Amino acid sequence: MIDITKTEEWARLKALSADAPVMREAFATDPGRAARYAVEAAGLFLDFSKNRINDDILAGLLALARAAGLDRARARMFAGEKINETEGRAVLHVALRDFSDAPYLVDGENVAPAVAAERARIKAFSEKVHSGAWKGFSGAPLDTVVNIGIGGSDLGPCMAVDALRPYWIDGRRAYFVSNVDGQHLADTLSQIDPARTLFVVASKTFTTQETMTNAATARAWLLEKGARETDIARHFVALSTNRPAVEKFGVDPANMFVFWDWVGGRFSMWSAIGLSIALQVGYGNFEKMLRGAHAMDAHFRTAPIEANMPALLALVGVWNRNFLDIHTHAVLPYDQHLHRLPAYLQQAEMESNGKGRRMDGAPVSLQTGPVIFGEPGTNGQHAFYQLIHQGTDVISSDFIAPALSQTPLGDHHEKLLANFLAQPEALMRGRTQAEAREELKRQGLSEDEVERLAPHKIFPGDRPTNSILMEKLTPEALGALVALYEHKIFCQGVLWGINSFDQWGVELGKTLAAAILPEIAARGEAKPQARGHDASTNALINRINALRLAAKEE
Ligand code: F6P
Repeated sequence: MIDITKTEEWARLKALSADAPVMREAFATDPGRAARYAVEAAGLFLDFSKNRINDDILAGLLALARAAGLDRARARMFAGEKINETEGRAVLHVALRDFSDAPYLVDGENVAPAVAAERARIKAFSEKVHSGAWKGFSGAPLDTVVNIGIGGSDLGPCMAVDALRPYWIDGRRAYFVSNVDGQHLADTLSQIDPARTLFVVASKTFTTQETMTNAATARAWLLEKGARETDIARHFVALSTNRPAVEKFGVDPANMFVFWDWVGGRFSMWSAIGLSIALQVGYGNFEKMLRGAHAMDAHFRTAPIEANMPALLALVGVWNRNFLDIHTHAVLPYDQHLHRLPAYLQQAEMESNGKGRRMDGAPVSLQTGPVIFGEPGTNGQHAFYQLIHQGTDVISSDFIAPALSQTPLGDHHEKLLANFLAQPEALMRGRTQAEAREELKRQGLSEDEVERLAPHKIFPGDRPTNSILMEKLTPEALGALVALYEHKIFCQGVLWGINSFDQWGVELGKTLAAAILPEIAARGEAKPQARGHDASTNALINRINALRLAAKEE
């Protein structure tokens, strides 16, 4: 495979980066910039003009995409080729949201009929729960869902359920338990009625320690609360690719919703993993979300790279990461219902592109995925934007907002939008020393005070942002938004030459935790001194065990 950093295209961009435009000047001299560096697709509008790019740089990035074979890689993904080479798997989450008759081939077999059949099962099951035909052990209908899963089996449905709050079915509640910290499950169980609760155990592998532990405890709790063994089938369903493990756990296979190894965990909320979404907002809205994602897929698949929203978002990200050396990227949704989107994208982006090896196993010779973090605006403004505006590290950001609120309340939304617009403008423009002085003078400060305070009031500006606008946060818009990021992640992985679809980096910690588990003493039980780890880990284990032993005497 080629080393993209050794190409002429890379060298050209490196040369251009030495003279990257200053945005304030670029906007002053080029009134067409905003219109040129924008694209619309699947109900979303992306303005990427507040990046340190110009026509030469954009042309250079498009040439880089060609050199990396982005077109071909995109075709290979949609064709079901095993582009997840280290796991020998196809990557076909796009098949989950296609309602046409288009075939999707894996090993020569069209998987589309199986996808449609599973969607039909999800629809039928959600409707049975909603109608009250599906009853719990006391004969009462189930109006509460507890989704037990972690990572991709939690973050997607949890984020989407919150995002679609205006579509919640009256009287229904969905909870999400992910952490193996028993407090998470205990806090949830303390709020719910066992007779009215459906536990949805979501795990692609059905071996994940956190999920299996929570599911087993929830099962025991239900039995303790009056259910019999024979009632478990009415209160537990499983979402997984691992049928034998589901059966072994004791969930009736009739209550199992399946997906397939070509659906990555962090790309799985469109599959059976989305059952909790369908249960909370209705299958119809779940399907609308899928259709919104498909609209973005159709755009991504067919639009030329120079007019392709995910590809362009990826390319400006590569520019920022590899040529302007920006290592942190903020996701800032100006919509309270998207408050879990940053957490969702932390996994989607960092588990996908936090890699140091190329697909062929060689070390990469470039920087890959940035650190992703974020909070909803305006909350973040009063917390960490200080660093984004004036810190010594330059951070790029995505600002996301709907033009219309789902729940208009006085002038709240106008104020929210004013902030959504003001922050990227401020980050782009900055404030010069002369402007800082002017402002302080206007406030009537003495010359001395003006001189003393002016340096603190300078904003360097030139800090890159993307603005993503939608009409309203509908299920369709949410689907399109998430699909936009999925494809952006894919494009960046192609440019960086890495496999965005494996996650070997999560293994080592799991292995070590399994070794340490028997060394943690049960409360009140003395354990021999820990050995065999590094001195720090040994000492921490010993201290924990001492504290747990002492607790017995309390
Ligand atoms: O440990 C990481 C991971 O494998 C993620 O990739 C995945 O989303 C999560 O764990 C949960 O996995 P599962 O759905 O198999 O329980």
